[in-house]
Amino acid sequence: MTTPKHFLQFNDFTRDEFAYLFERTRWIKDKYKRYETYHPLFDRTLVMIFEKASTRTRLSFEGGMFQLGGSAIYLNTRDSQLGRGEPVEDAAQVISRMSDIVMIRTFDQEVVERFAACSRVPVINGLTNEYHPCQILADIFTFIEQRGSIQGKTVAWIGDSNNVCNTWLQAAEVLDFKVNISTPPGYEVEPERVNLHGTAHFEQFADPMAAAAGADIITTDVWTSMGFEAENEERLRAFADWQVDFEMLRVAKPDVLFMHCLPAHRGEEVSAEVIDGPNSVVWDEAENRLHAQKALLEYLVCGRVKTE
Ligand code: CP
Ligand code: NVA
Repeated sequence: MTTPKHFLQFNDFTRDEFAYLFERTRWIKDKYKRYETYHPLFDRTLVMIFEKASTRTRLSFEGGMFQLGGSAIYLNTRDSQLGRGEPVEDAAQVISRMSDIVMIRTFDQEVVERFAACSRVPVINGLTNEYHPCQILADIFTFIEQRGSIQGKTVAWIGDSNNVCNTWLQAAEVLDFKVNISTPPGYEVEPERVNLHGTAHFEQFADPMAAAAGADIITTDVWTSMGFEAENEERLRAFADWQVDFEMLRVAKPDVLFMHCLPAHRGEEVSAEVIDGPNSVVWDEAENRLHAQKALLEYLVCGRVKTE
């Protein structure tokens, strides 16, 4: 058995592979917009395992797989044996003998790594406590669509140093841009947990306005991620001064893009005037999950395909 290629962290792929994927995403999106059928994954099956809630990730993977000519099976912890203590390694053996590709959304990154180690087919991380690589794939494609290459640009991350933030940090190393991060005290990035090679591509700021100064993208996420609900009250107090508002956009580049992976809480991490305002590209980001993940599914199942 040859070892399949997986997408478990953003830095599993090289800059060259991302260049290919972004070009492919563009082609697949254009074809879809012209209502042209494209079925490279005819007869193939994606298994999706969800241990946490989802709207966008489920829709984009399930819809994307159908649009590519394949089918998708949804499993969750509640009504499968996965929630009743079957070892991850056993589940990986069985599921990967009955499918062509697997996507997992779970708590610990270790679970997707253990699953992948025993899988005969490619495994995609659909969000863990540590990373959300599919989100940043779509977000960077969104930036490229609107502004061109992200190399040398500055992304300001305001708020919690969570899974989405960690993935921006990995992407900055792979694609050579910079992330300015501002978190409340006690919520700073822990570089050793994020698997970074150094500090050349990020800088931490106590003041969120300083982090936002001159940025090409300002982005944030909920103050309380899934799995951390018990800390919600404490986090509401700690993060109160880390809201992305109009004043923050004014210190960034005039054509700054506001991004948010969604779901969002208006009045907490972002003001309504920012998320619903002219700099916001949140709906494009959400839509591009579909197109970018179709390119990812095609790449992992079929390898590189020559773009016509
Ligand atoms: N952004 C994102 O992953 O959304 P869902 O939780 O709805 O899948
Ligand atoms: N950081 C958020 C992202 C949701 C898509 C969470 O993990 O809940």
